[in-house]
Order: sequence, then C-alpha cells, then structure tokens
Amino acid sequence: MSQLRTRIDLAAIAHNTRAVAAHIGEDVRLMAVVKADGYNHGAVEVARVMAAHGAQAVGVATIAEALSLRTAGIDAPVLAWLWDATDTALVAEALKNGIELGVPSLKHLRVLAEQDRPARICLKVETGMHRSGIDRHAWREAFMLAGSAKHLEVTGLFTHFACADDPESAATDEQLAEFRDAIAQAHALGLNVPINHAANSPATLSRRDTHFDQVRVGLALYGLNPLRSEPGIELRPALSWEAEVTVVKPLQPGDAVSYGHTFTADRAGYTAVIPAGYADGVPRAAQGQLEVTIGGRRYAQIGRVCMDQIVVDLGDTPHGVAAGDTAVIMGVGGMSLDELAERLHTINYEIACLPKGRTVRQYVNG
Ligand SMILES: Cc1ncc(COP(=O)(O)O)c(C=O)c1O
Repeated sequence: MSQLRTRIDLAAIAHNTRAVAAHIGEDVRLMAVVKADGYNHGAVEVARVMAAHGAQAVGVATIAEALSLRTAGIDAPVLAWLWDATDTALVAEALKNGIELGVPSLKHLRVLAEQDRPARICLKVETGMHRSGIDRHAWREAFMLAGSAKHLEVTGLFTHFACADDPESAATDEQLAEFRDAIAQAHALGLNVPINHAANSPATLSRRDTHFDQVRVGLALYGLNPLRSEPGIELRPALSWEAEVTVVKPLQPGDAVSYGHTFTADRAGYTAVIPAGYADGVPRAAQGQLEVTIGGRRYAQIGRVCMDQIVVDLGDTPHGVAAGDTAVIMGVGGMSLDELAERLHTINYEIACLPKGRTVRQYVNG
C-alpha cells in the first residue's frame, strides 16, 4: 500500500448522488460535474458511480477531460464548456466522440456553425457572473445562427451563478431574471431549447426556483456542503487523505524542529513524521494550522512544512503511535475539509483539490 493516499469512498458518492436526485425529483435531470478529475476524487470512477445512481449526464470543463471519460468507456452524455475555439482539431475530436459543447461566446458559436460536422451544443448566456457566456446584446444573433445551422442541435441554454452560496443574494434573483429572459427570447425566435440549466450545488440545495430542466451538481456529490448553512440533505464526505507514519522519536526541551527552527520544544516529548509535504499538496502556508489524526487522536503539526514531510507533536508520551500507523491528514476520520478550509481562509472546493504529488488514490466501498 502506498505511504500516501486519498481513500475515496464510492458508497458515499453513490449515497450523495441518490440524495441529490431525490431532492430535485424526477422532473429535473441531474448532470454530475466531474471536472478537475472529479474534484480530485478520480473522474472516471466517480462518474461511473454517479451515472449508476441517478445522474443522467456528466459535466466537465475541458474537451480533454471529456475525451478521457470516453476513452474509459463512459458513454453517458458529456458536456464540456471550456474550450479553445481556435483548436479546430480538438473540437472535431470532441464532436466525433459525441461530446456536447457548451458555447461560451458568439465566436465559439461561429466556429461550430462554420464546420459541417453534426454538433450538440448548449448556449451559455451571460447573466451576471461576467466570466464567460454570450452577452445579452448578442443573444438574438446567436439564437438565430444556432437555429439556422442545420447541423447544430441546440440542447438548451445554460448559465452559472456567482453568489448561490448565499441563498438570500439579490444577485441570484437578478441572474435568474436574465436567464428567464434569455429563454423567452429563444422561444420568441423559434429556437427549441428543451434542456435549460443554471443551478450548481448551492443553488440546487437552497433554491428550487433555479432548477429549470437540469441541475449541474459537483461539490454536493462529493459529500461536501456548498452552503454556509445546513445543506438540508444528508451529505457523506467521500475523501480521506491518509499517510503511514514513517518515524516516531523523542524530543528534548530546547530541540528545534524542521527548517528555520521555527518550533522549539519547551518540554520533553515525542514527534511523528508524516510523509506528505508541499510537493504533495500540503500548503507550506498551512504551518501551525494542521492537526493530524492518528488512532483517533488529533496532533498538532509543528515547524515548517517541508517538500516531502511534516512533523507532528505527539505530546509527553508517544500515545502508542508507531511507524506504519495510519495518520489522517484531513477528511473522513480526521480534520474535516470544512474545518481546514476555515483555518486556511479558503473554501472546501480548494481543500479537496490539495492532495497531489505522490498521493495515490485508493477506492473503497463503505
Ligand atoms: C459551469 C459550472 N457548472 C456547475 C459547476 C458545479 O458547481 P458545484 O460544485 O458548486 O456544484 C461548476 C463548478 O464550479 C461550473 O463551473
């Protein structure tokens, strides 16, 4: 077994998918978002489980991500929304593999209209996120062009919320009004838009009026709460970042630990070395914020985070900790991703993406 691993509980992924599917009801489709290698849980493995437990489609950012799902044999509908309109060879490859393309600008739409391969597309409309999406002034031209190109099949319109983690945010109401207007304009121009979608995890869990025909859910399917309040459904975190303790040793008063000697022992005690460092995704800036769990007990990380290892303070006795014991750096069985996110002044989305480098994935079922 690897000395540094993320354990991914596929039963938790299955549970979360069923819970979200039950929450949205049968009339709304569930698109499982597995970009960034399934939020660092392994896109192929989680997509399979999500598709088997209620997701009708899969969403990713890039065409490369979409193609790797196809290569792994995933034949569910896949939408990719972040692609380079000048890379016509890659676009052709996507279309050949039946990848649906999210269209983030009029320029992207023109590229698809000018090539003659059949394409399933979903038009992304700008409603207030101001990241990507076809601007309001270009909606009419885009809807007419998409409707007139016979080889283009428009599945619907989509947009993305900027502030859905705050269910009270007026920005979401404004974006919703814009999105409804875009759909109305498409209808008025005779463009068939059967599957419209806007909601990410927070919107899906907190506001039914954002659901439309489909929701695009990422974070919640990994068991992480996208809201500052309770999620309203039972979410089971799936990820645990674990390592095998490599060394346990005594420390004398006055001994200083790790680079720069930023920690000096004021009493005799014991330390354990955990084989995970900044090359593996432990932020060097997390010094003093981490607590590693060994045998159900939390121990503070001390001194500088190194490239390959961190040191934890076991206290006055080794507490029975020995080389080879499992240490949970974060996740199930240890410090939650939410707690670590709060300590590091970031969000659980980013914390899930930390493990890298020599970390290998191990899948378990329950
Ligand atoms: C366009 C788009 N839709 C849906 C999602 C899923 O968001 P969440 O993880 O909050 O469900 C994302 C992720 O940020 C996204 O970029």
